[in-house]
This record gives sequence, C-alpha cells and structure tokens, in this order.
Amino acid sequence: MGQLASEITDKYEFPYSEIPNFPVSTVEGHAGKLIFGKLGGKDVMAMEGRFHYYEGYDMKEVTFPERVMFELGIETLFVSNASGGMNPDFVIGDLMIIDDHINFFPEHPLRGKNFPTGPRFPDMHEAYDKNLRDLADTIAREKSIRVVHGVYVGVQGPTFETPAEYRMYHRLGGDAVGMSTVPEVIVARHCGIKVFGMSIITDLGLEGQPVEVSHEEVQEAANKAQPLMTEIMREIIRRS
Ligand code: HPA
Repeated sequence: MGQLASEITDKYEFPYSEIPNFPVSTVEGHAGKLIFGKLGGKDVMAMEGRFHYYEGYDMKEVTFPERVMFELGIETLFVSNASGGMNPDFVIGDLMIIDDHINFFPEHPLRGKNFPTGPRFPDMHEAYDKNLRDLADTIAREKSIRVVHGVYVGVQGPTFETPAEYRMYHRLGGDAVGMSTVPEVIVARHCGIKVFGMSIITDLGLEGQPVEVSHEEVQEAANKAQPLMTEIMREIIRRS
C-alpha cells in the first residue's frame, strides 16, 4: 500500500542494505528502502518494504525499523494493513480506524532484556492515540468518507482463518484480523512514539457465512480502498 509514500517530495532514499543490522527483504528486486522527505508540510520517513513474522523474521527483526525510527526522533507512527472483517456491520472495502488491538502472536517483541527506551512493563491503555483517532473521524466526516472503528487482532498467519478461528477471534473482542502491525505498534509505544493505525477490510469472516479468501481478492480490495485511506492519512499528517 505504497500510494501515500509516492506523494513524498524532496525525497532522499536509503536502502535497507546500507543500514547496519537492518533486515533485508528476501524477495529479490524488493530490497526495501527508507524514504525521507516532506508530506503534508511535515518531515516524514516512510518504509518501502515491511517485514512480516510469517516470512520467517524474528520479532527483533520485524520491529527493528521502529527502533531506528526512535533513534531518528520520529514522533508519530502511521501504520496501515489489510485485514479480514469479523464485525457483521463491516463491508469489504471499509476503512477501519484501529482503536485497540489484541496480540495473538506466539512471540512478544519485547521479550528479553528490557531496552532502556521504555519500562519493563509498558502501559498499553491507549496504544492508538485518541486525539489522532478523533482527528481521523473529523476528516472522514468532512470528506464524506465512510470509516468504521474496531479492535485489530494480530496473528502470525500465513494461513487465513478457519471459520472457527474467525468466530473465536470475534467472540474474544476482535473486529478485524490480520498478520502484521501489532509487534510494530508495541515497540513504537515502548519507545514513546504515538501511533495511528488504519486497516482496510479486504474480506469477511462472518459467523455462519464461511467464504473462500484469496490473496488476489485481498490485494484488489486493498488497492480500491487505498486512495481514500491515503486522503485521510495525508490530512492527519498535515493537521497533527
Ligand atoms: N485474515 C488474516 N489476515 C488477513 C486477512 C484475513 O482474513 N485479510 C487480509 N489479511
């Protein structure tokens, strides 16, 4: 979902391979880079290429970019993802403002010796900044863009959920389920970085309505909803 990054001006790009200890994408031709520049009148850094736990990276690698962000003085992290909706009020293509998350990854990104960027037992009562969520609502209303709110359940994948798993995650309090974001958000919060997250509902796992899910339909729905998400993200960056 690189549309927002393509709007960055005054660009300076930095390949991951030039940064000591930065994980490098295993897929050839997708080496990945950090992009620095301006967006919405702000100095920004964007990641082209992201690391998922299901690809085989360990949690320290998945969240290494957030450690770099902290060292560079980044104040706010904007994250996006594609996810499967479990809330019966959702439709495919919806933009979900992430209000909270449930961590279902099998390994915690803060496991091990505590980094001095934050406490041993970090508070998580407002992982997703309330002011930024409110601002997103205001912007969506002004632009007549439909947004929904919900709890994102982070799982390792790479299988999509069975009907029983979708049902379980929904009954446990989740509105959408996906394979990213939660580790990065935890580490960003541990570093004191504010977070705003949005999820594109690319498929639905509703109780009693089992349907096949494919990567192709996930990509198609994500591509369709991307311009609206970009509009909201750009405007939050400009106003925050
Ligand atoms: N489940 C998990 N991850 C996903 C889904 C889903 O239904 N859709 C997009 N990413």
